[in-house]
Amino acid sequence: MDKFSFQQLSALEWGEKHPQDILRAAMEEYGEHIAISFSGAEDVVVVDMAIKINPQVKVFSLDTGRLHAQTLQFIDKVRSHYNMRIDVMYPDHDMVEHLVAEKGLFSFYTDGHGECCHVRKVQPLERKLSTVDAWVTGQRRDQSPTRTDVPVVQLDPRFKGRGEQLVKFNPLANWTSQQVWEYIRAFDVPYNELHSQGFISIGCAPCTRQVHPGQHEREGRWWWEEATMKECGLHLADSSK
Ligand code: ADX
Ligand code: SF4
Repeated sequence: MDKFSFQQLSALEWGEKHPQDILRAAMEEYGEHIAISFSGAEDVVVVDMAIKINPQVKVFSLDTGRLHAQTLQFIDKVRSHYNMRIDVMYPDHDMVEHLVAEKGLFSFYTDGHGECCHVRKVQPLERKLSTVDAWVTGQRRDQSPTRTDVPVVQLDPRFKGRGEQLVKFNPLANWTSQQVWEYIRAFDVPYNELHSQGFISIGCAPCTRQVHPGQHEREGRWWWEEATMKECGLHLADSSK
């Protein structure tokens, strides 16, 4: 079966499968040519599940230069807890220096987050994805009004892998936040200490804040922007399927 029909079949047949079964199938299919993007938040669940399938699985994080110290500490804690390698990707220094020289360090509050996210997140992600055939994210449908249609598996609508097409797996797509936290507790998975301080969704420090009970988790991200604009370019076209 070629990769494309594998992808189509799985979209139909795997929708109800446990995230770890989705991961297992994806990792068996793509071997060393698949990588997990780990943000340093509750998507640690994906890392935990994947490590138990193959301790050599490729995992990377995008260090934007603006993450909370707690998130960096957590990424390193995960690295030592699982005795694993995590590739940390950095933005192009010329691009960052140019952006900051032109617009300062907080341009996203006035100009929107797109430009800064492009330099600090999207460009390094593009560089990493160009080395693989498939990637895995921790996206869930319940995370955001922009993610209500996120499929378990899809052809990435935006990025290219080593070849022309890149397959994107979202094994937690159908899980709720509650299921994720039940898993973390049940398997004693380490978690980012910011979660104990009122943070639910965690991104860069200047663009993330705590939410109050009853608020949607996404309200803590880029809170000065419209709910429908709250994607940084990593997952932009997901809901168009
Ligand atoms: S974002 O696009 O709004 O920043 P979010 O924080 O919800 O994304 O995370 C969704 C998924 O995107 C994560 O589970 C992870 O796979 C990927 N991701 C987001 N931020 C990063 C990051 N800094 N490093 C690696 N992966 C990330
Ligand atoms: Fe820049 Fe904020 Fe995007 Fe981080 S989340 S890359 S600080 S705009």
